[in-house]
Amino acid sequence: MRMSAHDVGRLIHDHDVAGSVSLISLLSEIQVRYHYLPHNTLVLLSEMLDIPLSQIYSVATFYNTFSLKPSGVHLVRVCLGTACHVRGAPRVLDRLERKLAIHAGETTRDRNVTLETVNCLGACALGPITVIDNVYNGQMDIAKADRLLKNLARDAERK
Ligand code: FES
Repeated sequence: MRMSAHDVGRLIHDHDVAGSVSLISLLSEIQVRYHYLPHNTLVLLSEMLDIPLSQIYSVATFYNTFSLKPSGVHLVRVCLGTACHVRGAPRVLDRLERKLAIHAGETTRDRNVTLETVNCLGACALGPITVIDNVYNGQMDIAKADRLLKNLARDAERK
């Protein structure tokens, strides 16, 4: 995934407001486009904005909306907090890992899905919970997990 110097220059130009550019808005745009912040793009930003690369990385790692690793089009988060855990979340996670052929923290080869675990989403009564692209799915079980994965696969085929 490469952004040329020309593309980065245009991005900077598009985000220039009265001679000032917000690094966070630039990083947000890159995150939306690529679903992560590619290293080579950050290097180009550093050179063109004359900002030390270390400073760009410190912003990129401070906010958890930014990812430095390639991530999938869809983000699937399985809650493994205590309430979800006792209601069967590990079985749901195991099913998702097997079906997607990845472990939590990884992205499928086709870059369609990134699977993550979290500790309590503050909606324990609905547990076990799996969040897909910010949509909460409560009372998860294996059948429901399979249906949700089918929807994600269908969505990928349409693209
Ligand atoms: S433990 Fe899962 S939402 Fe609280």
